[in-house]
Amino acid sequence: MHLGFAFMASRTLLSAVEIGLFTELAKGPLDAVTVGQRINIHPRAQLDFLDTLVTLKLLHRANGVYSNSPEADLFLDRAKPSYIGGLLEMFSARLFGHWAHFTEALRTGQQQNESRDGVDIFKELYADPARLRQFLGAMAGLSIPGAQAMAKQFPWKNYKTFADVGCAQGAAPVQIALANPHLQAVGFDLPPVGPIFEEYVAAHGLKDRVKFQAGSFFTDPLPSVDVIVMGHVLHDWDLPTKKMLIKKAYDALPAGGAFIAYETLIDDARCENLSSFLISLNMIIETPGGFDYTGADGQAWMKEAGFRETRVEHLAGPDGMVVGIK
Ligand SMILES: C[S@@+](CC[C@H](N)C(=O)[O-])C[C@H]1O[C@@H](n2cnc3c(N)ncnc32)[C@H](O)[C@@H]1O
Repeated sequence: MHLGFAFMASRTLLSAVEIGLFTELAKGPLDAVTVGQRINIHPRAQLDFLDTLVTLKLLHRANGVYSNSPEADLFLDRAKPSYIGGLLEMFSARLFGHWAHFTEALRTGQQQNESRDGVDIFKELYADPARLRQFLGAMAGLSIPGAQAMAKQFPWKNYKTFADVGCAQGAAPVQIALANPHLQAVGFDLPPVGPIFEEYVAAHGLKDRVKFQAGSFFTDPLPSVDVIVMGHVLHDWDLPTKKMLIKKAYDALPAGGAFIAYETLIDDARCENLSSFLISLNMIIETPGGFDYTGADGQAWMKEAGFRETRVEHLAGPDGMVVGIK
């Protein structure tokens, strides 16, 4: 029953993020009526809404006054650089509704989002500037923890340049460049992403070392660099496209260069990493042919493309990376 009710708990969290509850409480503890007035919660809903979040351990209550739990304060306050609620904002605005059509996706194998007729979701999303910004911000929420781990874990000292292909707002290149001051980076993505990427990079003081290169990985060559990173990109596409992208990365790299694919990798036994299965099911909702994969799958595809050495490493939370050395 807990699981059956889980969508209600999830909706409670998503609405709290959407209306900025944690951001408001990060400024200081408040009683229910005051917080209700500040962020417009109807009096009927105030107590039960806030106490549900207490029960979910996202808020604390002492003498009728509410404050954020340490985790909510760190990750769900929009004013902090550690905010990962962008992903939850996108769940709230888009995926919560699209998942109402999950049974139809099961029956038909077809997308259940804004582009139901097999159109590339990126074309559809990027036609609307507000949705583009929301999607790119959501990606930062998804990738920052993994990118921070990759920035420390991978032997970057052996390389001088890297490109993040399908970079979105730039969470990964920013984290990697911040932790490795000797590196020069390129963010490669579709043209509409450029201004949002450049704004994000400038806000982190990295515009001299992290540049944007507009292009499509279907029609344009990939940047010539020592390391190519693709984060949550291969999972968007069907198997022939995944293999084409891996081969394209192989061809673009010099001998000794590295390719890193990082994702919510499915565990090889296919029975443990729940997030990766849910994200893979979400690819049915969002894309015509995308699916997530195991570290073993990723290594096999890289070997097939010609990479002489491959390995899998855990990053953070549900994320892992598959590394291929040319
Ligand atoms: C799921 S997002 C992942 C973003 C980022 N790497 C991360 O992990 O947060 C996929 C990215 O691929 C980009 N993309 C989609 N089609 C592309 C294409 N044809 N050429 C280059 N980038 C593309 C999208 O714009 C988006 O930024």
